[in-house]
Amino acid sequence: MRAVKLAPSILTADFGRLADEVRAAEAGGADILHLDVMDGRFVPNITFGHVLVEALRKVCSLPFDIHLMTVEPERQVEYYAEAADTINVHIEVSPHINRTLDAIRKLGKRAGVCINPGTPVGAIEESLGDVDQVMVMTINPGWGGQQMIERQLDKVAEIRRRLDAGGYRAEIEIDGGVKVGNAARCAAAGADVLVCGSSVFNPQSTPAENLAALRAALRA
Ligand code: DX5
Ligand code: ZN
Repeated sequence: MRAVKLAPSILTADFGRLADEVRAAEAGGADILHLDVMDGRFVPNITFGHVLVEALRKVCSLPFDIHLMTVEPERQVEYYAEAADTINVHIEVSPHINRTLDAIRKLGKRAGVCINPGTPVGAIEESLGDVDQVMVMTINPGWGGQQMIERQLDKVAEIRRRLDAGGYRAEIEIDGGVKVGNAARCAAAGADVLVCGSSVFNPQSTPAENLAALRAALRA
């Protein structure tokens, strides 16, 4: 099976002690930190913006994976020029996706395109050669803690096929509902990175315990 990286999302972390939560995920073996920026328009929820991301940059040395769930994401990318490693924008709100991806690259960042469950693979076909990452949403974005729509794993496999056939080097990231019980199926479908929110940050167990359980599931 391919080597899969784990990217905890802070969405279900305890925001009153967020720095400690993030440190615990890093110490517990996270590979990447996934940061969900929501604007109350593309999705109903509002989370946080670049001010919080910059504050976390000071307490964490993991690569930052910014998931922009905003309308007009091209107006946001510059705000993450300092803190981000990867900036991901949704195809559904990017009529000029190549221009936006170029803008991200010009900032020296990895560029990712995200695709919602209701959007067919063909929508990102023209971008596959221009991205460092394709983020496949396996939930409808907006909240953490939702159940994975497993049928979306067929879409992951299809994108993997198209990337391989085109000789493209983009990684595939799966976002939404990743748990111990489905992590191996995500890897088998062709994912390189798994976002894990509530399966890492929850009141039942520590990020280190949860990350270890996810890794064990991927080895099984
Ligand atoms: C939802 C976000 C996800 C989410 C993942 O819109 O993009 O990153 O927080 O959380 P879980 O793993 O709980 O689905
Ligand atoms: Zn996300």
